[in-house]
Amino acid sequence: MSQEQFAVRVQRQNDPSQAPYWHTFLLDYEPGLNVTSLLQRIAANPTTIDGAHVAPVAYESGCLEEVCGSCTMRINGRVRQACSALVDHLLKEDPSGIELRPMSQFPVVRDLFVDRYRLFRALEKLQCWVPVDSYDDMGSGPKQSAKQQEQNYPLSQCMSCGCCLDACPQYKEVTIERHKDESEEAFEERRDAELDRHFIGAAAMSQAVLMNSNPIGKVLATSRIEAMTAPGGIQNCGKAGNCQAVCPKEIPLMTSWGRANRSATIHYVKKFFDG
Ligand code: SF4
Ligand code: SF4
Ligand code: FES
Repeated sequence: MSQEQFAVRVQRQNDPSQAPYWHTFLLDYEPGLNVTSLLQRIAANPTTIDGAHVAPVAYESGCLEEVCGSCTMRINGRVRQACSALVDHLLKEDPSGIELRPMSQFPVVRDLFVDRYRLFRALEKLQCWVPVDSYDDMGSGPKQSAKQQEQNYPLSQCMSCGCCLDACPQYKEVTIERHKDESEEAFEERRDAELDRHFIGAAAMSQAVLMNSNPIGKVLATSRIEAMTAPGGIQNCGKAGNCQAVCPKEIPLMTSWGRANRSATIHYVKKFFDG
């Protein structure tokens, strides 16, 4: 390997039922590359260091500016976005090359492409949206104070990337397969019911906190709190803080955990006294 070239080791997997394996590719150095552009160069010429012509590496990408979260993977052991991981920085940290692996707590679809459906299901379970009862022009909504905006704006930057879930000791991969002869509809119903029993994780919890503090979104606050405290809910969090440490948007997730727990306590004390 010359100084003008560097190695990219990629953990691959042909489909969810098969074992992972490794391929190493040798790429020409160019300044200013990011990891997504490396994967594009590999796709243009998927030839390994041993000269074998192989299938291009599967991966996801969308916005290319760290907004959609789809390109999340483990890069040199750290979960992050491929589009914002700069090759110059990575090679400075480790001149021996770059290692790419899929996220560890989501089922692998193929290579670096994982199925993050569980994350989106948790957002659905906690009703992480502002409900509307009309699409007519109703004028401007209720105002939020500057203090409320300051507290809530950071939470609105979540891109559902799943880094916080990948780093969480309480969040373990759940794989649910469709039974032979099971209809698509029956499978989806069973899958969602099963996923709902597992830990929701920091991302959905923090979005529920955000929606509960929205002047219109809070109309669903009671049912969100009940969903947050159902099996797989906020009580499963061990408060170690790995989630906040890895969040690429630096969202104050531990503050969100505090807010979620406080609102749950108030809700159940009130419920107790209200009979
Ligand atoms: S604080 Fe809770 S959600 Fe965050 S990493 Fe720890 S257990 Fe997971
Ligand atoms: S909270 Fe942070 S790490 Fe978790 S999904 Fe949102 S942006 Fe990603
Ligand atoms: S492609 Fe959207 S975050 Fe990387």
